[in-house]
Amino acid sequence: MAGTDYSSYLRIDELLDLQHPLTVGAHDEMLFVVIHQAYELWFKVILHELDYATAELQAGRPQRAMAPLHRTTRVDELLIAQLRVLETLTPEGFLKFRDPLKPASGLQSGQFRAIEVLGGLDGATPADASSLSDHDREELRRRFGLPNLFTALCASLRAHGFDAPDGDATELRERRIGALVALYRDHATPERAVLHRVCELLLDHDEAISRWRFHHALMAAREIGSRPGTGGGGVAYLDTTIASRFFPELWEVRNRL
Ligand code: HEM
Repeated sequence: MAGTDYSSYLRIDELLDLQHPLTVGAHDEMLFVVIHQAYELWFKVILHELDYATAELQAGRPQRAMAPLHRTTRVDELLIAQLRVLETLTPEGFLKFRDPLKPASGLQSGQFRAIEVLGGLDGATPADASSLSDHDREELRRRFGLPNLFTALCASLRAHGFDAPDGDATELRERRIGALVALYRDHATPERAVLHRVCELLLDHDEAISRWRFHHALMAAREIGSRPGTGGGGVAYLDTTIASRFFPELWEVRNRL
């Protein structure tokens, strides 16, 4: 056949040959494998969009960051919705295939960690980063050296005349928050409206991932109770992650208006 056909373009045969449950006769393991693979594909899309948005913000072009950030927030909602599908897995159905999975765990998702790094969570990787593959560790090291979404936002703010310096010192943080407060109080001009919209899209992303963390922890409690997780942390560990936020300064603005 001339030209491109559906199956060969999308590599459907290879894609459908990638699901290999470990336990014979465990009906629910197919869902478990597919849902994790689907998450990793959506993580790939999120990183593709966020990398683009970060580069545009860093270059002082917030207008061009809006579409990829908007798409990211739509995909974030899919991540949350998929948890409802996973919750059709019963605890006893999960136990039928769970033991052979150890020590594999979502803790080892390099792409999830990369999304966290883009969100500015340098400390998010659990202390025992050895659970990540060499390739993932290398990729995270590369990303730590690049601008993240928030530092790129600050670059855009500076390009539009705001005093939004980089740096961890309290004085620098206060200047950034002051710039954000000024923007939130007055975003009537088209230029300021775009910057304000970008801030709110970033907050949408932050809020959605927090909702995912909370719902994932509840889902995990529903499946495994207080047993250790396959990666050893369990729901007690997940509960410690629920309060983390990508962009604390965008939340702090709310207190200063
Ligand atoms: C029956 C289904 C699932 C259960 C019971 C479960 C449970 C857990 C538990 C207990 C942890 C903490 C580490 C550990 O002890 O292993 C964890 C971490 C994690 N899981 Fe799941 N999980 C499930 C499905 C998923 C799915 C479908 C994803 C999608 C990729 C996912 C992504 C993650 C991520 C990214 C982490 C690390 C979170 C962090 O460090 O903040 N999990 N999971």
